[in-house]
Amino acid sequence: MSVAKKEYKRITVKSLVEMKQTGEKISMLTAYDYSMAKIVDAANVDVILVGDSASNVIAGHETTLPITLDQMIYHASSVVRAASRALVVVDIPFGSYQSDSKEALRSAIRIMKESGAHAVKVEGGVEIKESVKRILQAGIPVMGHLGLTPQSIYKFGTYTVRAKEEEEAQKLKEDARFLEKLGCFAIVLEKIPAKLAQEVAESVSIPIIGIGAGGGVDGQVLVVHDLLGMTHEFNPRFLRRYMNLYEDMGNAISQYVDDVKSRDFPNMDESY
Ligand code: KIV
Repeated sequence: MSVAKKEYKRITVKSLVEMKQTGEKISMLTAYDYSMAKIVDAANVDVILVGDSASNVIAGHETTLPITLDQMIYHASSVVRAASRALVVVDIPFGSYQSDSKEALRSAIRIMKESGAHAVKVEGGVEIKESVKRILQAGIPVMGHLGLTPQSIYKFGTYTVRAKEEEEAQKLKEDARFLEKLGCFAIVLEKIPAKLAQEVAESVSIPIIGIGAGGGVDGQVLVVHDLLGMTHEFNPRFLRRYMNLYEDMGNAISQYVDDVKSRDFPNMDESY
């Protein structure tokens, strides 16, 4: 089904709700630095997520847990300088909002003030109610994240599909409605059955953005390094790779090494 696309000069949280209402799918991608964010923004991606997946793809950690608030702010401010159209959403990292709601608000304020981002994202449902409420009360837009929430990986034990059992599916549906009622402007659903994700999307009026959650939701998000094939060891079923940059970049860099060794580079035209 093709839907007439409205031209947006600048995406806001309101634009996303409007897209859901008109049936226009929302595109969201991660970025963590200025150069990548420039490309992503110029390609008309609606939302740039400064994800705590920076902990994996930028810093090389096994999980998202080690990244700090200062590091997230550094990534976010680089992305904000590049984005002229996209809405920039920043993950509040693990340990910066779970212990109490005042700390959550302080973390969200630091992100907004020091990076210039437009919204924050947090993982979890009813258990982080007080934190979400307090951040929203300060006028900061909040995106939720349910399903496979990587900050809880040690509770889950594996990165397999979540909410396959009725009890967990039920809680996820309740959490989504709860986050909507609190005032979240959108929710990411990660790695859950497509049927459940569609049911959630149809039961709330805020946009549901999926990653490994099928096509029945309001938008899609991927990690940009995965989409471009810069990462090559991570191969979940939900990932569509549009390039194989791991190979292409490796070949280009090997060629450079050969050219230096063989004295082909630099030639006369490349010298002063
Ligand atoms: O950190 C991240 O990149 C994310 C996406 C996978 C949704 O949270």
